[in-house]
Parts: sequence; structure tokens; C-alpha cells
Amino acid sequence: MEMEKMVNFCKNYGFIFQGSEIYGGLANTWDYGPLGSRLKNNVKDAWRKRFIQERKNAYEVDADILMHKKVWEASGHVSSFSDPLIDCKECKMRVRADNLVNDFTNSSVGDTLNEKDLIKYIRDNKIPCPKCGKTNFTDVRQFNLMFETYRGVTNDSKSVIYLRPENAQGEYVNFLNVQRSMRAKIPFSIGQIGKAFRNEITPGNFTFRTIEFEQMEYQTFCKEGTDSEIYNYFKEYGKKFFMDLGLKEEHLRFHDHEKLAHYAKEACDIEYKFPFGWGEINGTHNRTNFDLSNHQEYSKVKQEYLDSDTNEKFVPYVIESTYGLDRTVLALLFEAYEEQKLENDTREVLHLTPYLAPYKVCVLPLIKKYHSDKANEIFEMLKKEFMTTYDDTGSIGKRYRRSDAIGTPYAITIDDDTINNGTVTIRDRDTMEQVKMSIDEVISYVNEKIKF
Ligand code: GAP
Repeated sequence: MEMEKMVNFCKNYGFIFQGSEIYGGLANTWDYGPLGSRLKNNVKDAWRKRFIQERKNAYEVDADILMHKKVWEASGHVSSFSDPLIDCKECKMRVRADNLVNDFTNSSVGDTLNEKDLIKYIRDNKIPCPKCGKTNFTDVRQFNLMFETYRGVTNDSKSVIYLRPENAQGEYVNFLNVQRSMRAKIPFSIGQIGKAFRNEITPGNFTFRTIEFEQMEYQTFCKEGTDSEIYNYFKEYGKKFFMDLGLKEEHLRFHDHEKLAHYAKEACDIEYKFPFGWGEINGTHNRTNFDLSNHQEYSKVKQEYLDSDTNEKFVPYVIESTYGLDRTVLALLFEAYEEQKLENDTREVLHLTPYLAPYKVCVLPLIKKYHSDKANEIFEMLKKEFMTTYDDTGSIGKRYRRSDAIGTPYAITIDDDTINNGTVTIRDRDTMEQVKMSIDEVISYVNEKIKF
């Protein structure tokens, strides 16, 4: 499915809208509509289940987006979280120099060059500007990706604070608090779901690359020496999680990093096969004790763990497994969408894993005039159990189509039999098969099917 079609599908059915649309939109911002926010919340719940609820020694935090300025000095973001940018002197287009080289050579050679070599490579090879086609660029300038804002009333440099560019630091600065309050023993994990902000200038590919996005991050604190085993474990755990959500194995691959971030000893992405190519949806990083050691140095507060068995004190290593929520949702939408040819018709259907579907059930009175009272009664009963919607507009066929298109796994039709014998017809979204059952059986039937 083409990206443009997906953007229109998401808009028409209330999944995702352009941010600030009535003002012409703000580039690389997107608002989740009624169905998109349900889907997103269900992915969060699934993540919480697998990463917090079902694991031993796993704790969730909800740290503030705004953190002390020193956090970002200690983490290395103030000095090195930047993109190498160049401006075209002819048309003023701003591009990332490394991406320009990578796209031109169809390789990752741009990732291996420093600032001087990047611009030399571009000039020597006369790489053209993607907008005007000329080769007349400025030198490379490093552009920090963090969004700045100001604390208090004056806009002076002393009051600068940053919107967090990753969640992870909220987990690191609370390492001691969590460890002490939960009496946690290593290895233990701190997870967090929340927004992150980056001043990205590269094109977005819908919600794939945005300036405001959500991450589900997971940091496992461990002893040096056990780190590589835990790192490999989380690579596989992440892949299994994506497959449980419904992504097909053949659309997933590992990408081990050759060029490592300033904090990493080993790093690997899980990539999904989007229509525009393979794109990172998760990262697993062995961050060693880089973060905690730096926070210890900058804050002057010891970040040590005391092993009560050996009486040994050490600064733990951290294995990070991070999941892009918006990218996961986008991958799930591409995976689930099908334009299915039927005998005399086509239908759009979203084969979402039932647990993730925005609505679990749609209640449909067969004939509005005769069956609405009973249908409303059943709707009132079901909505207390799970997200239920109600549709009495248009023919039953059209109502099935809409229900399929938004991924509702079960449509329940209320007809004369419901009124006379207390039975309903349940239609399965994927197979379109229908089964009859008594009203009393519906809740346990659906609950069984929507488990995760
Ligand atoms: N704490 C480590 C960290 O932030 P990252 O690889 O920069 O690592 C983690 O980001 C995940 O966040 C990525 O795998 C991706 O899914 C998501 N992500 C990163 N930048 C994004 C952006 N501009 N828009 C949407 N998602 C993004």
C-alpha cells in the first residue's frame, strides 16, 4: 500500500490527522484521532503487559519531560546530539550531509565520514541539491536536535531548558529512587512510556519521523559481565513482542550497528519493511555504565549498587531496549491493511490483532425500526466490558464494511431471533463467518478472543 493511500485512509477513518490542519498544517506533526488514540493506547497496554506486568523486577516510572539542564550535559546530548547540516546556496534548501551522501551512493558511507570529509565528498562527487539540482553548498554545521525552551519569564541563556529528546534519562536519574523504594535487586528494569522531542529536518514519511513522538523505553540495570547475555536476550524479546502484536516475521529484521553512538558498546535495531523501505522501529543498546557514571560525575551523587551477597559496590551496566510507539502503530497499520477482492465486490479490512483493535465489538440492529431497543440494551451491557460501538446507519452490508475497515473483530447483529429467542449473530471480521449464540455467551466468547 502506498504511503499517500495510508495517509488518506487514516484521515478518513479517524486514525490520524495532519497536525494544525486548519492552519495549513505544521510539518512533521500528526494528531491521533478517536481510533488512532485507541490503537496507540492498546499498544501501550500490550507493552506494559509484556514488559512490566509479566516480568519479575520490572517497574514503571512516569518522569517529567522537563529535566535539569545538567542531565543533558551528563548524557552527552548537549555536546553531541546533532546532525551535520548543509544549506544549498542557490535555493536555500537545508539537508543532512550524511543522508545526501548515503542517498547518492545508495550506501551508508555518509555515516563513516567526519564533517570535513562529508563536504569534500559532496563537492568532489558533485552531488546535486535534491531540490534545485545544483552543487553549491555551505560547509557542514552541526545542528543540535534538542528543542530549547525557557524557564521563567526571561529568554536568557541561563534559563534555557530542553524538552527531553529521549525518555531514558528519566529512568537513569531515578535509578536510586526506584532501587531503594522497591528494594530492587539487580538485574532489574525500569520502563517508561512518554513523549520525546527532536528538531528533525529530514522528511517525515508520515508518522515515521516526527518532531514530537512517543517512546516505550526499558532499561535493565545489571552487573558488568552479564551485560552481553541480557543484550542478546532483549534483541529476541523485542522481536517476539512485535510478532505477538501481529507483525510478520518476514517483515522484520535485525540491523547490527557498525558505527556506535557515543554511549554504546553494542547496538542493534529491529527494522520493519515499510513501503518506503526498511525502517527502525526498535533499538537495543548496551550502554555500559556510561550514563550512571556520568550522572555520578555531574551530580556528585554516588550511583552505586551494593551487592548484599558479596558486599561489592559497583555502578551498574544498562541494557536499553527502546520502542518507537508511533512507528510501531504505523507498521501495524501497514501490516493489517488489506484491500480484499470478493466475488462481486472489494472490501477494506484491517486485520489488527483483536487485543489492539480500537473497538472489539460493533452492535448492529438489523432493521433500525424494529431492533433498535434490543440492540441498545445489548450495547449498554457490552460497553461495560470492552470498547463497543453502535451503528444503525445505512444497509447492513455497508455497516459491515465500515466495521471491517476500522478493524473491529466482531460485529453483532440484532434481529427477530434476538427478540424472540435471545440469540444474536456474531460475524468474524477476517473470515466473515457468522455464528449464532445466546446473548449470555457473548461476553465470555469475545473476552476469550481478545486476550493478549
Ligand atoms: N534512548 C535511546 C533512543 O532514544 P533512538 O534510536 O534515538 O534511541 C528510539 O530512538 C526509538 O524512538 C527509535 O527506534 C524509533 O522507533 C523512535 N524514534 C526516534 N526518533 C523518532 C522520530 N523522529 N519520530 C518518530 N519516532 C522516532
